[in-house]
Amino acid sequence: MAKPDLKGRDFISLKDFTPEEISHLLDLAADLKEKRRKGEPHRYLEGKTLAMIFTKRSTRTRVSFEVGMYHLGGYALFLTKEDLQLGRGETIGDTARVLSRYVDGILIRTYSHQEVLELAHYASVPVINGLTDLLHPTQVLSDLLTIRERLGRIKGLRLAYIGDGNNVAHSLMLGGAKMGLSVTVACPPGYEPLPSVVEEAQALGAQTGALIQVIHNPREAAQDADVLYTDVWTSMGQEEEAEARRQAFRDYRIDGELLSLARPWAIVLHCLPAHRGEEITDEVMDGPRSAVFDQAENRLHAHKAILWALMGDGRTDPGQRPILPAFSF
Ligand code: CP
Ligand code: NVA
Repeated sequence: MAKPDLKGRDFISLKDFTPEEISHLLDLAADLKEKRRKGEPHRYLEGKTLAMIFTKRSTRTRVSFEVGMYHLGGYALFLTKEDLQLGRGETIGDTARVLSRYVDGILIRTYSHQEVLELAHYASVPVINGLTDLLHPTQVLSDLLTIRERLGRIKGLRLAYIGDGNNVAHSLMLGGAKMGLSVTVACPPGYEPLPSVVEEAQALGAQTGALIQVIHNPREAAQDADVLYTDVWTSMGQEEEAEARRQAFRDYRIDGELLSLARPWAIVLHCLPAHRGEEITDEVMDGPRSAVFDQAENRLHAHKAILWALMGDGRTDPGQRPILPAFSF
């Protein structure tokens, strides 16, 4: 079977990719990981450049994309909103059109998801979503790689996400649904994922056999799970709610007792950064079931796969872009 061709595509949500395309990206990532382990050169993006726009902080996403471009023979520019005229009111559309004349791809981490859609609409080079308030798809591609490595498969397994119904939870539901991975989100009442995302993930899951559900009991979610996953209780941009969230989420922590309910082979994932002692205990994070640092490493390999697949060569013609899609969540 011909390998999927992702050249020129954007990477904005996992819902935009078929299971075959996601599996292909995972295969590329595994291949790149092996090449790096063996010290084999893989300069597939020689001479290519990536603009990286960040309006929120980052350790993993920034460093792995920047280093990834270097490994691939290319060059990455780290740009904060303040560095760009965006910070003085230049429009996203004009920024996209100008950057497209200089670089071969644009990564953006920002608050509004609509901004990423707008950037992608006006850019004539691939746009990669490095996290918005709505989604975090590059994270979940790396998570799928980690699950496949550690447990040997993805389809048919069950992931329990304990915590906030946030951007990471949304992408886990969509990515899980695409790949036949059942996802149960356990969160306090009032902190559920967006119903529109849940419904979309459920519809996708119906095609792959993945059950996507939202409940409020963390023990019920953890029972017999193959993967336990958590994220911070307070995401970037919600700092003023931190105290209220600490109260609301105090029973939504992965500790040794919750982990004991999961399958004996279960792994624990966290996208990081962790607030140790809040959503995860030291005992679990540093324990034998934790895969969090492999998961963080896999960001590098998965991101290189995305870069290689999207920017390998070829361009999309901005004239052929459809009209700006309506914000659908
Ligand atoms: N998980 C993640 O995206 O980490 P950073 O915020 O450090 O990029
Ligand atoms: N949900 C977190 C993820 C950080 C990688 C946030 O948006 O801050």
